[in-house]
Formats: sequence, structure tokens, C-alpha cells
Amino acid sequence: MDEAALSRLLDAFAGARIAVVGDFFLDKYLVVDPSIAEVSIETDLEAHQIVGKRLSPGAAGTVTSNLAALGVGTIHAVGLIGRDGEGFELREGLHARGVTTGFLTEAPDRFTPTYTKPMAVQADGSEVEMNRQDIKNRTRTPEALEDAVIGDLRRVVPEVDAVIALDQVQERNFGVVTDRVRAELATLAREHTDTVFFGDARAHIADFRNIIIKPNAFEAVSAIRPGYSGEPTLDLARDCAEELARRTARPLYVTLGPDGILVFDGKDWSHARTVPAEGPIDIVGAGDSTTAGIVSSLCSGASLHDAALIGNVVASITIQRIGTTGTASPEEVRARFGRFAAAGMV
Ligand SMILES: Nc1ncnc2c1ncn2[C@@H]1O[C@H](COP(=O)(O)OP(=O)(O)OP(=O)(O)O)[C@@H](O)[C@H]1O
Ligand SMILES: [Mg+2]
Repeated sequence: MDEAALSRLLDAFAGARIAVVGDFFLDKYLVVDPSIAEVSIETDLEAHQIVGKRLSPGAAGTVTSNLAALGVGTIHAVGLIGRDGEGFELREGLHARGVTTGFLTEAPDRFTPTYTKPMAVQADGSEVEMNRQDIKNRTRTPEALEDAVIGDLRRVVPEVDAVIALDQVQERNFGVVTDRVRAELATLAREHTDTVFFGDARAHIADFRNIIIKPNAFEAVSAIRPGYSGEPTLDLARDCAEELARRTARPLYVTLGPDGILVFDGKDWSHARTVPAEGPIDIVGAGDSTTAGIVSSLCSGASLHDAALIGNVVASITIQRIGTTGTASPEEVRARFGRFAAAGMV
């Protein structure tokens, strides 16, 4: 891919329409100033004093934030939130980034999943993360809510060029991408052959059918060899990924951290390499930003391999955002692409 082709691709993002179905979390950073700590009269315990809040959509919301930063024109969030303050804050964060929330169902009996991260400000202004507090749903997702997600999926699919499924929850059927939702995705993907269907999951990646998946090397191996521990070799990752691709009957990506991405087109492998990171890095959200780069490229006409290249470029930018799940703009992608080109990686 040359710079002209990259420009055409980035320009096409404005016309792309992408739905993200999955677990939308609220990331809630609370900035604590220890120098003004108070002692509670009731408990004698120290009361942390919050002097700032930073709220942003997380998990599936990290994907939508990255799509928005890349300039994708239409982004729909599909999933579940609670009828609670966190749900309000999450919806506000999605709207602020241009993400539509008409397909987010509000469920009065469920929580809006939330990671609350108190950050203690140090004398030099830096922040240290204190004990995280997690709000998660700890029971099976009720059938009526699965029906709502499935109904919204059926409505949104004819309106989009790509569907990204993001399954963040480890416990089977406790999140948005339940067995039934996954089965519906498989059906829709079979019926809508012009639509890109793409899935990522922490625990259940091997259960997707008829869609492109993107495990990391370890996930690919442990999906085929449960209980596997260790650092898989490239050959082992490839073998296991091919077994996964036989099940999904679609191409597949295997991400390799600093070694980039392996691409399987159903027959052959290629390797999209990435440039070494410069300076400090923070890999939280790297996988989600890679997803955003790959899928916006695929539904704008890029080849499987070039989409992986853009995934690497986007992630190489977002991992340089410390202490936040970063995003990358088209201008930043253009600039970083130059470094990839200079390194002979395009
Ligand atoms: N240390 C690194 N240096 C350069 N690029 C990196 C590094 N770590 C990750 N990346 C980029 O991010 C992409 C995804 O990273 P990785 O393979 O770690 O995914 P992951 O394990 O799914 O991440 P996540 O924990 O965010 O889900 C890589 O393919 C690469 O482009
Ligand atoms: Mg991942």
C-alpha cells in the first residue's frame, strides 16, 4: 500500500457504517488528592477526597471510541446498560463521540458494568492507581434481554457495512454476547455475505461461527488446548488458529503484541509486522484499537493484509497513550504510516 492508497482508505472511513455489539463498560477514573484526606467521624477511617473525574466508554466502548477517532461516519452501539447513574454517564460518553445509542437497551434490573479506578495524585503530579472497584452483573443475562439484543441486531445489520462483536465477560452467558446472541450472529453472517462480521472475546473466541475472529496467540492456543500455559511458538499458534478457522470458515487474525499480526486467508498465512514502540508504552486497549483499525479498513475495501497493517499502525499510536485507553486520528495514522514505510513494512 502506498500513501495515495492510504489516503483513499482513510477518506473512505467517513462513509463507513459499523455496529459494535457487546459489553459496553464505563471506565470511571476518580482523582484522589491524598494531601487533603479527611478522617470520617463515624468510622475513624480515612476518607479519600476526589478532586477530579475522568469518564469514558470502555470495553466495547473502547472499540467505538477508536472507530470515532478514525473518522468512521456511522457507529451504532448495540448492547445492554442499567438504569443507573453509570448508564447515564456511559450514554453521555458515547454521544460525545458521535456513537448512536438507540440500540442500547436499558435494563432496570442489571448494572451498567463499571471499572472504577481511584487514582492518587503524587507530589510531582503523576498518578498511582489504587484498588479498583468493579461493578459487574453476576447472574445469567435474562432471556428477555437476549431477545432485545437479537432484535436490535436484526434491525441494525441491514444498515451497516460491518458488525463487530466484543465479548468482554469471562462467565458464559453473563454478558451481552451470550450463546444465543452468538448463534444469531452466525446466522446473520451467513445471510449477509457483503457485510463484514468480526469477533473478539476474552474467553469464548472458539464459539464464534461464520465470522472473522482475532485471538492473540495465547488465546488461539488455549482455545484448542484448554489449560495450556506458557508462551506459544509461532508454529503452535498457527496450527491452533487454523483449527479455529476451520470452525469459523472465515479468515482469521492472530495478534502477536510487538510482533504484529498474522493473517490467515483460509489457505495461506501472511505476517503484517509492526515498528518497535518508542518510549514508554501502555498496552491497555491495544487489542480493541487494532480491531477498530482492521474493521474500518476491511469495510472500506482494504485487503485482509492491508487491514492488518492499519491495525498495527493504529495500535502503535494508541499504546503510546499512557494511563488511558488511547485513540488515533487519521492525521496520526498518516504520519505513523510514514515510519512503517521507511521500515519497509507496508
Ligand atoms: N509492545 C508492543 N509494541 C508494538 N506494538 C504492540 C505492542 N503490544 C501490542 N502491540 C500492537 O497491538 C496489537 C494487539 O496487541 P496484542 O497482541 O497484545 O493483543 P491482545 O492481547 O488482544 O491485547 P488486549 O489485552 O488489548 O486485548 C498488536 O498486534 C500490535 O499491533
Ligand atoms: Mg485481546
